[in-house]
Amino acid sequence: MVDALFLAAAVCFILALRGLSSAETACRGNLFGIFGMILACVGAYLSINFLDMGFTLLAIAIGGGIGVYVARVVSITALPQMVAGFHSLIGLAAVLISFGAYYAPGLFRCACSSCNVAELGLGLAIGAVTFVGSAVAFMKLHGNCPNYRVPQMLNVFFGALVLSLFSYFVFTGSETALLLLAAFSLILGGTLVLPIGGADMPVVVSLLNSYSGWTASGIGFTIDNDLLIITGALVGASGAILSYIMCRGMNRSILDVIFGSVDRIESEDRLRISESRPIKCGSAEDAAMVLRNARSVIIVPGYGMATSRAQYALKEMADVLRNRGVGVKYAIHPVAGRMPGHMNVLLAEAGVSYEDVFELEAINGEFPSCDVAYVVGANDITNPAALNDPSCSIYGMPILEVGKAATVLFLKRSLGAGYAGVDNELFFASNTMMLLGDAKATTEDVIKVLRNSGR
Ligand code: TAP
Repeated sequence: MVDALFLAAAVCFILALRGLSSAETACRGNLFGIFGMILACVGAYLSINFLDMGFTLLAIAIGGGIGVYVARVVSITALPQMVAGFHSLIGLAAVLISFGAYYAPGLFRCACSSCNVAELGLGLAIGAVTFVGSAVAFMKLHGNCPNYRVPQMLNVFFGALVLSLFSYFVFTGSETALLLLAAFSLILGGTLVLPIGGADMPVVVSLLNSYSGWTASGIGFTIDNDLLIITGALVGASGAILSYIMCRGMNRSILDVIFGSVDRIESEDRLRISESRPIKCGSAEDAAMVLRNARSVIIVPGYGMATSRAQYALKEMADVLRNRGVGVKYAIHPVAGRMPGHMNVLLAEAGVSYEDVFELEAINGEFPSCDVAYVVGANDITNPAALNDPSCSIYGMPILEVGKAATVLFLKRSLGAGYAGVDNELFFASNTMMLLGDAKATTEDVIKVLRNSGR
């Protein structure tokens, strides 16, 4: 019965991942995930015989209650730190289960053979790194923790120590080795993530996601739980693939993300606009006039669209422009916003058709022939420094080449830099008009002017 439930849950999780891979099927994927988790909980309850029903229901009620509360109060812009927080809990669970399996192997039906000890040690070490690393990532994304410089030699030292303690634990099963392994893995989790910051954080979160999956898989082997093994492998592999996709989007290697932070902190310090060159600022009327005379407009959303929730206004503006015979498309950069697919989700929420949304490779060639690039709260993903300035932190990242459009309308609140802290020369370009203010309010003003003006 339990095996059948676990198998059904694993199939549901695979279907959930499959569904979540595209916006059209994401809701269905989510439902599969929920159903799979219910089956997993029932299976887990049936598989253990030392807990009474009341205790289990209480645990499910507390966990489920916290889950519902968090899902209701967390804004979409705070999703990355929420994900980091959840990974931290997975790491903590792995550490606790490892200790439980070591001290009470009978309760976990765990033989504590040398093979089991290896899985247990692995689950414990990766779980501890994930626990502290994700907690630090959570605080950084929440703005409560600055970047600290940690000498890479220290990380190498702790890494070597953890490996040695792991090997010693596998051969001896010693309690002291287990405790030291846990302690130094916890420290390593902190020292690895403390120096990383800025644009690299989402990659780190995704990497920790992957770690949490491998931890669950390792623990699954220890306590002989097939569902944990399968689910952990799914999470581990999908997190690793996601990290790879993000790194490719930023043209960086994963090792550079993890170990290159110190150099980047220094170069970011140097890159602040100190001059006061003239910029061309416009009003909603100016923008409406430019848009009225355009034949093709490409909307480029970024993180600012998410914070101002401008997607509904953008959709409305696109409809108004289309009614006037203007062609409107949306251009999505693979790392726009703060998580993969961030922009796609928001545009889909506003009812933007998938056919109007184009990925970077598909649309970049259209900017030279487009009349207006309407850049909404996007900065780094349009920054030419990524192509021209080898000393900047985003050098090598492919960008949406909005500067090639006849006119660039830049919607943001100030001349401040984006997530990576790199100033954007496009603000000073002769074909750029800055529309300073909240993106949603500005777009709504533009719509009003467009509606009030004749054809
Ligand atoms: P950013 O470079 O962060 O720029 C967003 C801009 O939005 C800011 O410059 C900000 O300028 C503006 N803004 C904020 N609130 C606004 C509002 N209410 N109204 C109007 N403008 C507003 O975002 P991006 O261009 O989307 O680039 C994403 C960054 O995240 C990249 O560096 C990328 O590498 C990094 N990253 C993303 C991911 C994923 S998966 N998405 C993963 C790793 C890294 P003001 O403050 O002047 O308004």
